[in-house]
Amino acid sequence: MEYAEIIRLLQQLTETDQLLSATISDPIWEDSPWGEKVVIRPVRIKGQRCYQLTTFKDNQAFHRNISVPDCATTVSELLALFKQGQLFTVDADLHIQQKGTALSCKKRSPTHKGSAQQHNRSKQHLLPEGIPDPYLIGLGLMSSSGHIIASKAHKFRQINRFLELVDHTLGDVTAGATLHLVDLGCGKAYLTFALYHYLTTIKKAAVIMTGVDRRADIIADCRQLAETLGYDQLHFYQGDIANYQPSQPVDIVVSLHACDIATDYALAAAVAWQATYLFAAPCCQHELLGQINNNAMETLLRHGIIKERFAALVTDAVRTELLNAAGYKTQVIEFIDLEHSPKNLLLRGHREPSPQQQQQAWHSYLQLKQMLHITPKLETLLTPHLPQ
Ligand SMILES: C[S@@+](CC[C@H](N)C(=O)[O-])C[C@H]1O[C@@H](n2cnc3c(N)ncnc32)[C@H](O)[C@@H]1O
Repeated sequence: MEYAEIIRLLQQLTETDQLLSATISDPIWEDSPWGEKVVIRPVRIKGQRCYQLTTFKDNQAFHRNISVPDCATTVSELLALFKQGQLFTVDADLHIQQKGTALSCKKRSPTHKGSAQQHNRSKQHLLPEGIPDPYLIGLGLMSSSGHIIASKAHKFRQINRFLELVDHTLGDVTAGATLHLVDLGCGKAYLTFALYHYLTTIKKAAVIMTGVDRRADIIADCRQLAETLGYDQLHFYQGDIANYQPSQPVDIVVSLHACDIATDYALAAAVAWQATYLFAAPCCQHELLGQINNNAMETLLRHGIIKERFAALVTDAVRTELLNAAGYKTQVIEFIDLEHSPKNLLLRGHREPSPQQQQQAWHSYLQLKQMLHITPKLETLLTPHLPQ
């Protein structure tokens, strides 16, 4: 296993809050500044998730806290200085050992099953279960006694996961001026309401939010619920994403599982409005399935199901690179475990214009485009914002 792979794995484990603890032991050098062993465990400080790092030296323990993004790089650096590491995760125990310049990684069933369950329960505390909440009751997710309706448990987990991702991304951005958010293709607006509720009630942020959907019946229900809950800065627009024009600058664009190329219109809108953050979980992507063509890839494209999955992955990769080319630093992350939803990827973008990086992204996009003979809608929509 390469170090880059370990870093990616650690990034995923820490970002998704799946790392229960880690023990790095057996230093390569006798006088290691990190002592004999290092133990890492997740903690919450003032409501913010981070990791506590404990080093053991001369029968003494020294503690320090590191942020979630720093944890992956710190652990991977430690793995270069110690001979072995044990990562205890929700799904498995990983035993990592130094093997020359590379690392070996053995996977075993999780020893901390009990703590994994406890951890999963406490993870839901971003939106607490067991306390009757008018907005969750209004959405039909919770009974009046505060219990999550069994058939909606998946939606509840998805909402919590989404809020965690947003919380982790925004940090203390919410402490400043009024944030303007737009949710494009909001549907029944479970996530729109959740985000509004979380930002205004829990984070105490000033927020103006608009949900957009073309379905009149859904929008009427959403407006009704917002009024009942007294969410006076949560508005709804009925119409096509392509026709919605915000009345003020937009900070955050959300578009989760909008159908096929509706996601492209949402991404193009985020870029045109120069939104600082975007979160998009694509859905039923058909556009490129009919376009992808390359004789040298016949083996990959011959089977319908494989081609379909490949086309969906290409769509996400293309969107990511086009967003990068348009000035967004974009990451692809797992929205929710595959077992919970096949639509499990989420594109997270932060506006960071950089002519050089945009040019590079544009160049790698063009290579893929030429190789697969594709002309995605998003390229056309983003034309004014792409390098020449
Ligand atoms: C699968 S639902 C997702 C709802 C919600 N975002 C969620 O993740 O739970 C997709 C929604 O996008 C809406 N939609 C699709 N294309 C649209 C478009 N071009 N303009 C406006 N709404 C659109 C549909 O009406 C539908 O309500």
